Amino acid sequence: MKLKVATSGAWLPHALAHFDEVLVDHAHCEKKAAANALSLLQAYPEVPGLPAQMARLAREESAHLARVLQVMEARGLALGRDGGDPYAQGLQRLLRHGAKERQLDRFLVAGLIEARSCERLELLARGLEDKALARFYAELAQSEDGHTTLFERLAREVADEATVATRLEHLLTREAELIEGLPLRAAVH
Ligand SMILES: [Fe+2]
Ligand SMILES: [Fe+2]
Repeated sequence: MKLKVATSGAWLPHALAHFDEVLVDHAHCEKKAAANALSLLQAYPEVPGLPAQMARLAREESAHLARVLQVMEARGLALGRDGGDPYAQGLQRLLRHGAKERQLDRFLVAGLIEARSCERLELLARGLEDKALARFYAELAQSEDGHTTLFERLAREVADEATVATRLEHLLTREAELIEGLPLRAAVH
């Protein structure tokens, strides 16, 4: 899936200037990604391939979380409570209510969040002066890119090509509106 708008040029300087806050938010994002993988496994065990894929995804996102927590610890940062993510919450509100529709939307929204995360982590990778940290972010960005593909595949597993394409186009448009309407935050989204 190809995002319709690029992140504003103002985001990276802001994120780098408040990188400690971004790290804490990033840890919460990885935690939510791991939790969402298990939640999808719980909700849709009948989708071919999904249980094993979501188990692996939960493990990968938990590993990302553990590594972000390690970076935080080295900088003396505590996790604290999750302040919430208006971006992800905005996307969750787009989920439709019918069982089939909701299932497709959950896969597509998860894919969108991965795609936007990938874009932002890549920006951090290019902007961070600390070489080790930049490599870490480049590696994570690549991993999130793979997750976008995984969720697109799952969407195609549960709906036909035309249905996926129409819904994805709609959600990509709404995602673009959402990301452009949100205030600049020292956060991944
Ligand atoms: Fe991740
Ligand atoms: Fe991911």
